[in-house]
Amino acid sequence: MAFRWKNDLTRADTTPEWAFLNRRQVIAAAAAGAGLAALGGTARATADPDLTPNSWEEITGYCNYYEFGTGKEDPAANAGVMTTAPWQIRIDGMVERPGTYDLSEILAEMTLEERLYRLRCVEAWSMVVPWSGFELADLLDMVGVQDGARFVAFETLYRPEEMPGTRYLVLDWPYREGLRLDEARHPLTIMATGLYGKPLPNQNGAPIRLVVPWKYGFKSIKSVVRITLTDEEPYATWNQTNAREYGFYSNVNPEVDHPRWSQASERRIGSGLFSRRQPTLMFNGYADEVAPLYAGMDLAKHF
Ligand code: MTE
Repeated sequence: MAFRWKNDLTRADTTPEWAFLNRRQVIAAAAAGAGLAALGGTARATADPDLTPNSWEEITGYCNYYEFGTGKEDPAANAGVMTTAPWQIRIDGMVERPGTYDLSEILAEMTLEERLYRLRCVEAWSMVVPWSGFELADLLDMVGVQDGARFVAFETLYRPEEMPGTRYLVLDWPYREGLRLDEARHPLTIMATGLYGKPLPNQNGAPIRLVVPWKYGFKSIKSVVRITLTDEEPYATWNQTNAREYGFYSNVNPEVDHPRWSQASERRIGSGLFSRRQPTLMFNGYADEVAPLYAGMDLAKHF
């Protein structure tokens, strides 16, 4: 589905009515099979009552973006100062056409689609988010992956003067993440540039972030400035910070608990303070599509 920006819409335009219309459009897009058709996931996506998108306010007001503070409301309060245009991404390592690409140059080559995905944070809360973006595989094809590459590494912008949270050594900045190449090429893996049909707000990782819906949210690295193809498992911030608690794979798995809490259930943001927790789904509900990637692997060991 080709997608045209609504650049004339500002945050003030996000009236409940607009949001409602947009939700319906998003649901219609899911019903029409946008993005999921190729995977045969359409029926499940539309039949799944869980796939009611969270509101714009919930998605943009309750965030994790430690570069802007560790509180859930810090990113919304502090990320406004981040400069996101112009934006360049350095793509290097084992690629045919390495270089520093302007985001506009990349977007000119990509087809944007809407994808309605569950987001499951490792902290056991979840949301449903209507992203817009393009498949990471298309970007990898654009730069050409060399034979022998096995992993993809990602890096977030590190600009302390605009990122108050980076003045504290809570993490080893810049934030970095990594995927196996086959995970990166999976059609569910996207680079998101928008939310509810509008450009991505800074607190959600503007202007471009990774979204890997079957993994815990921390793999979905924000505000990406570098993508590197390698033949070795790359540095991943949370895994390196505490390998006992955060594995490299970090696939959503209700059967493998975090050492300090259960991963069997989750709290859907916006479902009300006293609502029951809901069960967490294997691979966050995308098992049909992604389980073959891990055939034969011990998921308790490679968590
Ligand atoms: N990316 C960067 N650079 N810094 C972060 O702190 N937090 C991660 C992930 N990407 C994070 C990040 C975590 S823990 C989650 S759950 C998701 O972003 C949250 O995305 P959202 O705030 O858009 O819902």
